Amino acid sequence: MDRTFLMVKPDGVQRGLIGRIISRLEDKGFKMTAGKLVQVSREQAERHYAEHVGKPFFEELVGFITSGPVFAMVWEGDNIVTLSRLLIGKTQVTEALPGTIRGDFAAHTPFNLIHGSDSPESAEREIANFFMPEESVRYEKSVATWM
Ligand code: PPS
Repeated sequence: MDRTFLMVKPDGVQRGLIGRIISRLEDKGFKMTAGKLVQVSREQAERHYAEHVGKPFFEELVGFITSGPVFAMVWEGDNIVTLSRLLIGKTQVTEALPGTIRGDFAAHTPFNLIHGSDSPESAEREIANFFMPEESVRYEKSVATWM
């Protein structure tokens, strides 16, 4: 089963959108295997966004993600990296289509509510930055059989 790292960003936590964002992912038939509130440290944020070091928005990005608690999660499902990013919508809120999480709830970049890994390799690196292996729970979810 494929897995990915998804994180409700500080704007989503502050706006009380954790539950509705999780519902979108559950509605799709994905399975959450780990989840927790985290106050991200500067070091953890720099590891998470290592590929963006040196970009003009890097400081703003790190400042934003450390500005308040996030809800970090691991989710499983077939093709979940690709499918979850489709559910999330485009990074720039002006390009995020209605029906996506960002398209329905976000109005200003970079306050785009949720992060999703962009590849299986990124997912494993990001999961390891937030979770110990024993924090992920293995269980069966019968709905996943037919969705
Ligand atoms: S890139 O250069 O195309 O790889 O960057 P992109 O994928 O568009 O965005 C990477 C993450 O940076 C966030 N972002 C920003 N943060 C602050 N300020 C500005 N201007 C900005 N532009 C993009 C964007 O939301 C991405 O965050 P994640 O958490 O990966 O979605």
